[in-house]
Amino acid sequence: MKINFLAAEEKGDSKSAVAVLAFDDGTLAPAAAKLDKALKGALTRAVSQGRFKGEAGQTIDLIAPAGLEAARVVLVGAGKADAFDERAAETAAAQALGAVKATGVERLVLQLGAQTPAIAAAAALGVKLAAYRFGKYRTKERPEKTPSVARVDIAVDDPKAAARAFKTPSGLAEAVCAVRDLVFEPANVLFPEEFARRARKLEDFGLAVEILGEKEMKKLGMGALLGVGQGSARESQLVVIQWKGASDPDAAPVAFVGKGVCFDSGGISLKPPAGMEEMTTDMGGAGAVFGTLQALASRKAKVNAVGILGLVENMPGANAQRPGDVVKTMSGQTVEVINTDAEGRLVLCDALWYCQQRFKPQFVVDLATLTGAIVVALGKDVAGMFCNDEALAENLLRAAKETGDALWRMPLQGSYEKLLDSDVADIKNSGGREGGSIFAALFLQRFIDRTPWAHLDIAGTAWKPDSAVATIPSGATGFGVRLLDRLVADNYEG
Ligand code: BES
Ligand code: MN
Ligand code: ZN
Repeated sequence: MKINFLAAEEKGDSKSAVAVLAFDDGTLAPAAAKLDKALKGALTRAVSQGRFKGEAGQTIDLIAPAGLEAARVVLVGAGKADAFDERAAETAAAQALGAVKATGVERLVLQLGAQTPAIAAAAALGVKLAAYRFGKYRTKERPEKTPSVARVDIAVDDPKAAARAFKTPSGLAEAVCAVRDLVFEPANVLFPEEFARRARKLEDFGLAVEILGEKEMKKLGMGALLGVGQGSARESQLVVIQWKGASDPDAAPVAFVGKGVCFDSGGISLKPPAGMEEMTTDMGGAGAVFGTLQALASRKAKVNAVGILGLVENMPGANAQRPGDVVKTMSGQTVEVINTDAEGRLVLCDALWYCQQRFKPQFVVDLATLTGAIVVALGKDVAGMFCNDEALAENLLRAAKETGDALWRMPLQGSYEKLLDSDVADIKNSGGREGGSIFAALFLQRFIDRTPWAHLDIAGTAWKPDSAVATIPSGATGFGVRLLDRLVADNYEG
């Protein structure tokens, strides 16, 4: 998708759709009012007639409008006129693209008139996120289902300033889409070594990337992570990504750790067949960490940051870990593996420990598609946040509000600690169904050594089979990248 900023007079040709905005008080935005004149009041009539109220999410589509060369006009609801901010612009622009992207028109002209460069840039961000599609493996497709719009022109009074303002959001959108690509990839393509190879390419953004194999992890004593991967024909990997953007290269970094289970069959505690294919997305946490580091580097964030990806495949087989096995973690604590399907926490506990020991970060946030229980509790629009530090929790909740990557705080309920007790080892990896997400978080907390820490359970939000949000096409969402990029931008850049 090509996105350009053009002068506000741009009207589009016969292969174009023109989009303009209306607000929920019934008024047309200035660019829409101007267009309405050319259309001899057709937009005013359309608005006064029907159920279109100018609310966010509503659109009216005029086909072959008389008095205009363009093939279509789309009137997009933009919500409250006095609350029309960057988020509203993003949504409206995404909605406009959604309304026309497969109609046969090749170009969308979004007329924003005198709107600010920041609003125009936000609209472009919305378009870029909404245009995403994982088409890599489609070799034939009905033409009417194939997107036709190849180019979006955003018409504003100051297109040069808008293009400048779009630099950073454009990099952010690319990072989100990079995560979506990773999450969409099937597990026969994206296994741990392939994921690590793709992480290696982040060096092009100026990031430093190290890859540890099983030999190195064995030396470090990562028995929990290695136990999960031992049943797989694919080698487990730990990827360490570093960004040094702070003026002091030795300043303590912010750190992110991601669960990267490239496929989660459950292992010997095999999952039921129905829906198991979705477990190719069980690396969404590692994906989000990958994308966050890419976003920080592409806008040259003034911060030192570390991203750690724990990459494994959880498979049954002759060499697989058994229920009842006891593994020794890098921290020295031993774990009784009650359920081989509770593997994410086993990967994270070693990755988290390694992160804290090596980097002494200001804080660490882990992201993981960790529990089905969080999907039951919060659904697919909100991720669960567990946090041992009030300031970090507040900063995360604020970034969530601002970006739309929604979070809800869950309790690290101390009275459940006894559920972690094992008869043979220091702790066990599963405590049953009740409070499953809390149990998983309490397990992870045992591997946090006084560092401010937050755990984001993104099992629901990383993958949405039928997304209702215009900026998030169905499937991989890229959840977490915008959240963490904003968390850093608002609080940790000097
Ligand atoms: N990857 C799953 C969690 C999951 C479920 C992610 C649904 C996305 C959608 C995780 O490894 C898992 O299997 N968790 C178990 C834990 C249980 C065995 C204690 C679960 O949630 O059932
Ligand atoms: Mn599992
Ligand atoms: Zn899993």
